[in-house]
Amino acid sequence: ATTGLADQYGRVAHDLRVSLTDRCNLRCVYCMPRTPDSWQSPDELLTDDEIVRLVTVAVTRLGITDVRYTGGEPLLHRGLEAIIAATARLTTAEGRLPGISITTNAVGLKHRAGPLAGAGLQRVNVSLDTLDDARYAEITQRRRLTSVVEGLDAARRAGLDPIKVNCVPQPAGFRQDAPDLLRFCLSNGYQLRFIEHMPLGRSVEWDRDAIVTREQLVQALTDAGAELTDATEARGAAPAELRRVRFEGLEGEVGIIASVTAPFCRACDRTRLTADGRIRSCLFGQRETDLRGPLRNGADDEEVARLWRQAMWHKPRAHGIDHGGFAATTRPMSAIGG
Ligand code: GTP
Ligand code: 5AD
Ligand code: SF4
Repeated sequence: ATTGLADQYGRVAHDLRVSLTDRCNLRCVYCMPRTPDSWQSPDELLTDDEIVRLVTVAVTRLGITDVRYTGGEPLLHRGLEAIIAATARLTTAEGRLPGISITTNAVGLKHRAGPLAGAGLQRVNVSLDTLDDARYAEITQRRRLTSVVEGLDAARRAGLDPIKVNCVPQPAGFRQDAPDLLRFCLSNGYQLRFIEHMPLGRSVEWDRDAIVTREQLVQALTDAGAELTDATEARGAAPAELRRVRFEGLEGEVGIIASVTAPFCRACDRTRLTADGRIRSCLFGQRETDLRGPLRNGADDEEVARLWRQAMWHKPRAHGIDHGGFAATTRPMSAIGG
């Protein structure tokens, strides 16, 4: 018996992802519907106090050791620094400071990296799919590439470590984009990770045969002259498998998140809180558990913890993308936060 977030398949969640908003200042074609049918309204959203209260319950009562803030775009949330500062005052069950990270598109990070690091942010994952201006504008529907590169630079100067770069390779450009990003990340000390495009949100197009798979990606890097080792170690609960890489006299590590062709559900240790206060036990789960209602109706911490445990107990065994009966989620990726 455990008081943590166990599920019926023997997994235990230690990693909490909190979405702070479903809004974003970019419109990445694989992430957000072209015309979002609706945004979460202010009264639906958790307040900063409610967010901190739920994160506190998770860290102090439910065995959460790592907290990641996501979006949409978490930098659009004004209270981010204060929420991170409050998180940094918490102590895990083992008496440690929780790991605190964000996943961001880095637009505007230039001016926030310092204050965020000061508030207690430890590390950052940055979404960047190409270094080509035109292709960046095509993918994101915005021209903000310079701001992203400056944001990454500021993150490094603020001492955030590690800095990871997330790329969802696009069929049209990855043969060019992947080696370019590899060169850029190896020379700047960023850890580059490639992610297979996952089907999330009924209104975002997804075609199993059109995604760039791990195999295609490795082939493209090899064709460009990169030498990659096989996946180094069992990745455990971390989605990314890491490989050593040598490329144009540079050396380092590259990660591949093969969510579709090599799912890692068996070791999954994630629990998710949406900006409107629901627990998602799985990225792809159809079922969500509302905590905002109970919270506003006066539930105490123990009751909130009980509801959260119950939600996680029913976490699906696996996403089943390649199995019959798979149904895409109602929420797009932009409203879950990855
Ligand atoms: P760290 O490894 O802790 O740095 O973070 P991360 O890679 O889990 O987080 P990030 O937000 O950078 O996500 C990278 C990619 O992994 C995104 O496409 C996420 O959607 C995906 N991902 C993260 N967690 C899960 C998960 O539990 N299941 C699946 N299927 N994908 C996930
Ligand atoms: N499949 C896989 N990864 C995605 N991301 C956004 N949408 C998808 C998708 N459909 C990535 C972004 C971001 C991370 C949180 O998720 O690139 O870095
Ligand atoms: Fe975990 Fe669900 Fe992701 Fe599988 S799809 S790794 S169960 S969150």
